[in-house]
Amino acid sequence: MNRVTYSLPACLLHWLMALLILAMLFIGVGMVGSLGPWQHRLVSLHKGVGLLLLGLLLLRLAVRLRQSPPALPASIPAWQQRLAHAAHVLLYGLMLALPLLGWAMQSAGGYPLVLLGWVLPAIAPQDVDLYAGLRSAHGWLAYLLFASILLHLAAALFHGLIRRDGVLAGMLRGRVRS
Ligand code: HEM
Ligand code: HEM
Repeated sequence: MNRVTYSLPACLLHWLMALLILAMLFIGVGMVGSLGPWQHRLVSLHKGVGLLLLGLLLLRLAVRLRQSPPALPASIPAWQQRLAHAAHVLLYGLMLALPLLGWAMQSAGGYPLVLLGWVLPAIAPQDVDLYAGLRSAHGWLAYLLFASILLHLAAALFHGLIRRDGVLAGMLRGRVRS
């Protein structure tokens, strides 16, 4: 079944961010679970890619506001369409919350972030209890993001392999012009 696809920028941003976020989840778990000599490098990589993801998300939200995503096929029941919408809102919320929590956690711990030679401003007061709370929130929300991605992946594969209703194809093939 043919379905209108996402725009090319929306598709490129979706897949680039999906790749980076999955890498970030594994880098995050790897760096807190080991004290190997590469740990310091992993932490720097994690912070840098996390900030890059925050920038990419702002760009993605701008693209999303300019061009609405294609409507889901009418064959999908209304409750499933509402569920899909809620799942996407949750994914966007977590993509925004995680880098901001990471940044705020570093501010609260008194560790300034440096991006391309620029020292970024602190976005939270320096406070050890706040640091502990933000650090634990960052960890828990990262696992919630992981679980949401698994559900999202399952839904995408269900549409692509079982229903074959064009939903997966709509995100795989971007259109150049709207
Ligand atoms: C880190 C991983 C991922 C994140 C954070 C993510 C996030 C999102 C978000 C927020 C949307 C909604 C786009 C919009 O309408 O504004 C979306 C759509 C979509 N994603 Fe992902 N995604 C991820 C990985 C994947 C993977 C691995 C697949 C498939 C194998 C996939 C397939 C799709 C499809 C088919 C849509 C379009 C759904 C529709 O037309 O309503 N995504 N994704
Ligand atoms: C989408 C973006 C991000 C994702 C998916 C992510 C994911 C994770 C994960 C899975 C962990 C391990 C949690 C644990 O097992 O306790 C972690 C830890 C950490 N993250 Fe992130 N993170 C992101 C952004 C950031 C940013 C922007 C920063 C800072 C600028 C940051 C700083 C840290 C630090 C310092 C830790 C180690 C905390 C500790 O010592 O326990 N993260 N992150």
